[in-house]
Amino acid sequence: MKRVSIAIDGPAGAGKSSVAKILARRMGYTYLDTGAMYRAVTWESLRRGITEEKDIVDMAEHLSMTVAPGEERMRVFLGGEEVTDHLRTAEVSAAVSRVSAIPEVRTIMVALQRKLAAEGGTVLDGRDIGTVVLPNADVKIFLTASPRTRALRRYKELGGEKAGLSVDEIEEDIRKRDLLDSTRAASPLVPAADAVHLDNSEMTLEETAEAIMKICREKAGDEA
Ligand code: DC
Repeated sequence: MKRVSIAIDGPAGAGKSSVAKILARRMGYTYLDTGAMYRAVTWESLRRGITEEKDIVDMAEHLSMTVAPGEERMRVFLGGEEVTDHLRTAEVSAAVSRVSAIPEVRTIMVALQRKLAAEGGTVLDGRDIGTVVLPNADVKIFLTASPRTRALRRYKELGGEKAGLSVDEIEEDIRKRDLLDSTRAASPLVPAADAVHLDNSEMTLEETAEAIMKICREKAGDEA
């Protein structure tokens, strides 16, 4: 079967990265976590105490970012130093929306993502893959789940009652983030016109990956 590019976009908590990882493993593809790249720029700006937008852009222009496949998640290096373990902290999560909304930062990241995906055989997850990064991607999925389902998943991920947040509070937060992501000026979260919409509220991650593989097989069959 032809080695295609698979673009998975959708809101936070829809299971994009988990599904992308399953797909990459099953298909022998490379997984590209584009959110981690925006998180790395954010981490570096926090580490250096840079807050002005123009200074963040200047920093991003001079960053030497490389990525490599990892066991659990994609590994990210800045100037050769691994920063993977710093990218999921609450501090980075709180600041990344602002950094990823800067158009010049997006231009730099998109160029790098295109380069990394140029060979095909890549599963990318993000917000703008099917619309901006790879408008010609072979398979485009817009993955969603209801805010309630996404909040429940996040609650479990955070350790249930230990999370210190109720499911209602998490759901409220998710609704706010959705609104921010879908209304920002630079590359808002919108489905590509030719994306297949998949709501996985009632599906497991395995079932979701299976459904996407079926779409890939159909696509390959169409072109055979
Ligand atoms: O998927 P994630 O939570 O790691 O994404 C981190 C942030 O980066 C989130 O605010 C959305 C943003 N993002 C983006 O704007 N474009 C992408 N292609 C990927 C992530």
